[in-house]
Amino acid sequence: MESLTAVSKEIEKCTLCDLCLKRKNTVPGEGNEKASIVIIGEAPGKNEDLQGRPFIGMSGKFLSKSLESIGIDRSMVFITNAVKCRPPNNRKPTKEEIATCRPYLIRQLSVIQPKLILALGTSAASSLGIEFKHLNEIKSRFMDIALGNKRFKCLVTFHPSFPMRFPSARKSFLADLSMAFNSYKNLST
Ligand code: URA
Repeated sequence: MESLTAVSKEIEKCTLCDLCLKRKNTVPGEGNEKASIVIIGEAPGKNEDLQGRPFIGMSGKFLSKSLESIGIDRSMVFITNAVKCRPPNNRKPTKEEIATCRPYLIRQLSVIQPKLILALGTSAASSLGIEFKHLNEIKSRFMDIALGNKRFKCLVTFHPSFPMRFPSARKSFLADLSMAFNSYKNLST
């Protein structure tokens, strides 16, 4: 079976879409290879691009604090993004960029085989092949999804930048995080 390092090395050399032209670093993801929960965000921002690490800017700090507030340390999970290179000016990744990057995500998930995938926001949900018009249709409920030849459980919630900006969404975001980790936190080996 392949390793996460092998997937990361391929991502580092990737030229499959134009996002490779302006990136400083790829951001394959980081964390516990044996994690029961994989968290998927949207795409690297400026800080992530500079350091090659996911969720280390403002929304990353908000995510870490939110996880800490329910007793979860980032080292317990694996964190990655739908798209592994920074889109210019922090625009949303396109459908095509998400589709092009998707095989890397599927390979990472196949290696880790998490008990649960926590998808943060619409790009993450799209990268898992979930179809929807509005996030509300799919938010806050456990779903079974098929990826490659495997099935996974998945929970979709807000991207952390939303509750960071709109405090009224924080309660719902934390409730989703709690729901995810209360179901699966003891399963990490
Ligand atoms: N937003 C994301 O979706 N991912 C990151 O890594 C940083 C910000």
